[in-house]
Amino acid sequence: MDINQNTFRNFISNEDISHNELEDLFCLAQNIMNNPIKYAEVAKGRIMATLFYEPSTRTRLSFESAMMRLGGNVLGFDEAGTSSVSKGETIADTIRVISSYADICVMRHPKEGSVDVAAEYTTIPLINGGDGGHNHPTQTLTDLLTIKNLKGNINNLKIGFCGDLKFGRTVHSLVNALADFEDIEMFFVSPDELKIPEYLKSGVLKDNDVAFHETENFEEILNVVDIIYMTRVQKERFFNEEEYIRLKDIFVLDSKRLLNANKNLMIMHPLPRVNEISYEIDSDPRAVYFKQAKYGVFIRMALIIKLLNLEV
Ligand code: NCD
Repeated sequence: MDINQNTFRNFISNEDISHNELEDLFCLAQNIMNNPIKYAEVAKGRIMATLFYEPSTRTRLSFESAMMRLGGNVLGFDEAGTSSVSKGETIADTIRVISSYADICVMRHPKEGSVDVAAEYTTIPLINGGDGGHNHPTQTLTDLLTIKNLKGNINNLKIGFCGDLKFGRTVHSLVNALADFEDIEMFFVSPDELKIPEYLKSGVLKDNDVAFHETENFEEILNVVDIIYMTRVQKERFFNEEEYIRLKDIFVLDSKRLLNANKNLMIMHPLPRVNEISYEIDSDPRAVYFKQAKYGVFIRMALIIKLLNLEV
C-alpha cells in the first residue's frame, strides 16, 4: 500500500508500513532534522488528538511536540479519569466523536488490542501509542532511526534485549521490526518469569530465520553485542507486588558490568528508567537513551506528515 495515497491510513503496528516506506520516513526525518524551519508550518490548521488512557511522558509529549513543531494544534486527555470513559463511554463511541474534532489521533490504552478496536471506527488516521504489553510501534520507529543514525545501518548487528521481555511492548515491536532486516542476531536476557513471548519465537523470528539466544548471563553478552536494549520491569502489568519486588532489580547495568563490555556497545532504553541503568553510566559515550528520545520527535513529525498527506 502506498503511504502517499489519498485515503487515510492508520499506524497500529509496524507491519502497517513497508520496508520502502520505512526508508522514506527515515529520509524525511533526516530532512526535518537538517532543516526544521522548512517544516514549521506544514500542519498549520490541523489538529492532533492524544487519547491517553495510560500514563506517558515521552510518547504523548513527543507527539504533541512533533505536531506543534509542524505548526499544528493538539487536544486530548492524559488519563481516562478526566474523559467520558469514567462515565462508561466505549472506545468506539469516543473515537467516532474525536474523528470530527481532530484530523489525526494517537491512542494509548492499557488493554492489548484496544487500539485495533478503535481502528474499526475511526475516520481519521489513528496511531497506536502503546497497547498494554503488546505493541508500541512509534517507539520502534524511534529506536530504528536511532540505530540507523548512530550505527550507520540496521543490518548485520548483534542486539541484546534485557529486562522485562514478557510485558515490554517496546521490545515486542522492535523484535518484530528488526526481524525484517539482514543478518540480525538477537540475545534475550531476562529472568525465567519474564522471557520473550513464545509467539515471537515461533512466529516472526522463526519465519525470518533470525538467530536468537535466551540467557541469564548478562555480563557475557555485553561483550558480544553491538547494542544492548535495556527495559524496566513493567510494574503495572504484574498481578502480584511481591513477584515484582523479587524481579525488579535482577539485571542492573552499572559501570562495573560495563568494564569488559564491547567498546563500541550502544546502550539504548525507551525510558522511563527505574533502576536498571545506574546514573553513573549516563555520561558514558555509549549511553544513547537521551539522544534516542530526541530522535522520537523527528520520526513522529515524519509520520504525521505522511499520514496526513501534508505538502512538503
Ligand atoms: C515505554 C512504554 O510506554 O512502553 N515508554 C515509552 O513509551 N518510551 C517503556 C516503558 O514504559 O517501560
